[in-house]
Formats: sequence, structure tokens, C-alpha cells
Amino acid sequence: MRTFRVELGRDAHPVHVGAGILERVGGLACDAGLKSGRAALITDSNVAKLYAPRVTASLKAAGFDVAVIEIPAGEASKSLEILATLYDRMTEAELDRQSVVFALGGGVTGDLGAFAAATYLRGIPMVQIPTTVVAQVDSSMGGKSGVNHRHAKNLIGAFYQPKMILADVESLATLPERAFREGLGEVIKYGAIMDEPMVSDLERDLEAILRRDLAALEWMVERSLKHKAYVVENDEHEGGLRKILNFGHTIGHAIEASAGYGKYLHGEAVAIGMVAACAMSRKFAGLAEHESERLETLIRRAGLPTSMASAHRSEDFVRALRLDKKRLEKQIEFVLIDRLGHAFTRKVPFDDIFSTLD
Ligand SMILES: NC(=O)c1ccc[n+]([C@@H]2O[C@H](COP(=O)([O-])OP(=O)(O)OC[C@H]3O[C@@H](n4cnc5c(N)ncnc54)[C@H](O)[C@@H]3O)[C@@H](O)[C@H]2O)c1
Ligand SMILES: [Zn+2]
Repeated sequence: MRTFRVELGRDAHPVHVGAGILERVGGLACDAGLKSGRAALITDSNVAKLYAPRVTASLKAAGFDVAVIEIPAGEASKSLEILATLYDRMTEAELDRQSVVFALGGGVTGDLGAFAAATYLRGIPMVQIPTTVVAQVDSSMGGKSGVNHRHAKNLIGAFYQPKMILADVESLATLPERAFREGLGEVIKYGAIMDEPMVSDLERDLEAILRRDLAALEWMVERSLKHKAYVVENDEHEGGLRKILNFGHTIGHAIEASAGYGKYLHGEAVAIGMVAACAMSRKFAGLAEHESERLETLIRRAGLPTSMASAHRSEDFVRALRLDKKRLEKQIEFVLIDRLGHAFTRKVPFDDIFSTLD
């Protein structure tokens, strides 16, 4: 098991990454200073069957009295309605200020569980136990919690840091193939924006990762989370540095919105967005052609899409891009790279964006 800390002053917390560590969650929670007693294990209907018994047994052995709260699997559960049912279940379980919420599952469970913990009794301790690649390398860290509103994704939420993050890479074995590969988009992103040697290591180990070799997954998740920790430590509330995590996301979000939500998974749209961001980086930031080709090859080898087909010609795509929340009048703030491993933001006029994408 690999352990490090996210240094956030009073909100500093340990991160554990390893294989087969779900069984240790109870003991590790106590080591992190959490009081055993009443607790809730929030999990979704897929993950409950697979991993809740193991986690519950470990928590019980450490003295936690756990109520398991199951939500339906899927993005639709990140809603005010499901949140209301969580508060019902949490009061029924008589959780108090010292009780702990454990969120076991993907980003949906993590975002929702963290927001429930943030708001119940004005905030009770919570632990993230991510079980998807997206959650293990991204969403479990950084403290963004919340639910969707029918008018917008993630409209209602709060920053709320967990007391511990525990990522068991063995749990990724049961993830459906498409969901597994989707998460690799965000992994490749960390290499592209912060860590050129990580790109080389991914090139070397990609086959092992796709086979879900535990040692390969362990370094991949740890390295990704360490990069996210660095960014969050230096810019907890997204004032500046944290924006580089949006590499590939401006175009990615426009693809998701214009293709109709659900056609592309988020990580797939981001993969296409990263290739587009490379084209813009070549034009506006002097990125070398061979570096851009290296990244595109890696994305393709990971089984992710690299081309936006004719999507960018559609009216919907253009409209979605113009509506991007980062838009500033006639230009958009883009994350560009001038070489692999080094990113920055820059305002690019719409006309230049469209001429590059053509
Ligand atoms: N808070 C953040 O910083 C942040 C960052 C990125 C994404 N997100 C959010 O995360 C969500 C997406 O996360 P996700 O992709 O993990 O989605 P998810 O939680 O819906 O999980 C995807 C699917 O995989 C299933 N699953 C989870 N773990 C499994 C396992 N080990 N084996 C088999 N099946 C498993 C789930 O039941 C679900 O059907 C979105 O709501 C997004 O907004 C948040
Ligand atoms: Zn993303």
C-alpha cells in the first residue's frame, strides 16, 4: 500500500492506494482519527453487491455501527430527490456530529455522499472509497461535492474535504471495459499537463494497465492522485492553477452537450478534446508536432476516440462552445501545452478556434 497526505492545513488528510485494502478501511479510518461509533456506508446498487460486505465487515471489526444506504446506480441519482432520501436514512440511523459517512463507489456516490456529509448537521466527517478509475484518479480528491439540477450539472454543491481517501485498485477488476477506458483519459491528461515522464511510463505500461495488472494500476492511481493533490494544495478553490485540470475539457464539454448527453462518456469527449487542444497548442503555443502525435497515439492505444468526426461543424457544437462557462466575450480561455508536461491558460479568439478545428 502507498500512502501520502494532501496538505490542506486543518483539512489535511491521508490517501491510501493499494490492492486488497478495502478490508483495512476500518482500522485505517481509526488511524486517521475518526471515532468508531455510528456510521453510514453510502453506495450504489451495483457496487453494494460487489464490495459493501467487505467494507462493512472491516468497519464492524473496528467498532463502527454501520447503516448501509443504497442508491440506484447512475448519474440520475445525483439529484436533490435522492439527497433528500439520504437525509431520511441518516436521521433514521441516528447519525450525530461524530458519525462518519463512508462513500463507496464511483463519482456519483462520492459527489452525492460528500454533499450529504457536508450538509447534515452542518458537516460530519466523511471518507471517500472510490471504485471507478474516474473516482480513483480524479473525483474522490479535491473536495468538490454536490448534485445536479435539472437545468445544469453540478449546479448545487460545496467544497468539502474528506478525512481520508482509500483507493483499492483491486476493485477496478469488475468495472465494465468502456467505463475503465474512459478513466484513462483523465490519467493521460495528468501526464500531458504536468509530467512528461508519466507519459513515457504510460506508453511503457499501457498493456499491463489495460490487463488491469494490479502493480501497474497502483502506480497509475497514485501518480495521478499526487498530481491532483499538488494542484488542489496550491489552488483549493479554483482561482488559477486548478484550471489546468480542464485540459481537453472545453472542447470535451461542447462535444458532450452537442452530441446529446450519453453518446460520448465524459472521458471519451475529453480524449477528443485533448487532441483538439494539441492542435491549438501547435498553432498558438509552439507545441512540436511529434509531441502532439505522441499524445494522440497514446490516447488511441488506450481505446479512446481521437477525432471529433464532423461534430465540430454542427451548429449545436458551435453553440455549446459559445455557451462555455469560461467564455470571455469573443474569446475562450483555453488550457494549452507548449510541451508535454507543461500547461498554462490562454485566451483564444473564437475565429482562431474554429479555423484550427477545420
Ligand atoms: N468531484 C469531482 O471533482 C469530480 C470530478 C470528475 C467527475 N465527477 C463526477 O463523477 C461522476 C462520474 O463518475 P463515475 O464515472 O465514477 O460514475 P458512476 O459513479 O456513475 O460509476 C459508473 C458506473 O460504474 C459502476 N461501478 C462503480 N464501481 C464499480 C466497480 N468497481 N465494478 C463495477 N461497476 C462499478 C457504477 O455503479 C456505475 O454504474 C459524474 O457525476 C461527475 O460529475 C466529479
Ligand atoms: Zn473530467
